[in-house]
Amino acid sequence: MADIDGIKACVFDAYGTLFDFNAAAAHCRDDLGEHVDRLSQIWRTKQLQYTWLRSLMGDYVNFWQVTGDGLDYAFAELGLDDPGLRAKLMQLYMNLDAYPEVKPMLERLKAGGMKTAILSNGTPEMLDSAVANAGIGDLLDDILSVEDVGIYKPHPSVYQLAVDRLDVKPKEVCFQSSNSWDAVAAAFFGFRVVWINRFGQAREVLSAQPDREVRTLADLPPLLGL
Ligand code: LAC
Repeated sequence: MADIDGIKACVFDAYGTLFDFNAAAAHCRDDLGEHVDRLSQIWRTKQLQYTWLRSLMGDYVNFWQVTGDGLDYAFAELGLDDPGLRAKLMQLYMNLDAYPEVKPMLERLKAGGMKTAILSNGTPEMLDSAVANAGIGDLLDDILSVEDVGIYKPHPSVYQLAVDRLDVKPKEVCFQSSNSWDAVAAAFFGFRVVWINRFGQAREVLSAQPDREVRTLADLPPLLGL
């Protein structure tokens, strides 16, 4: 008997959930020196803030642009001026490492007959590249990008995209994100949600809560009886 039952599709957030957004800066440790962790943290924070701000402003540009803008802000804040390093970090962001448990977890879901998909802010090009780099393309039925709705998470039309494309009801979707705000918004939308709390964060004080909280994606298949 599954802990979470009636699920027809497992849908995954990409950055921070399947792919390690700290990997780009980590691969430039020699170039960044003492700035490595701060750079990664400011970059991610600004990238997300710009998605939310642009969504509220009605001024959508794609996630590649927002990612570059966030990096430019981080460089400015840390007093860095190195176009070659900027280009290197952006190229690394196209090919972020997947977390080690991702592939075996997806193999287990597919062996159990589960439909699988990504639902992400990333552009189709960014997502295709990360998926190819991780060698998980055969283990995904669909790769869904906000590019098709022109607004970022947590707008409900993003979660609706998964319902429409996968032809399932919200309660038949099990959504996984390490981003607590994304997990909350997906639960508010009506998905069943497993929060992959990789970073040991506190619960958000918002209007919905995820169904379950685990530490890595390896904990997901048993919750689904797989
Ligand atoms: C994404 C961001 C939120 O992949 O991590 O959509």
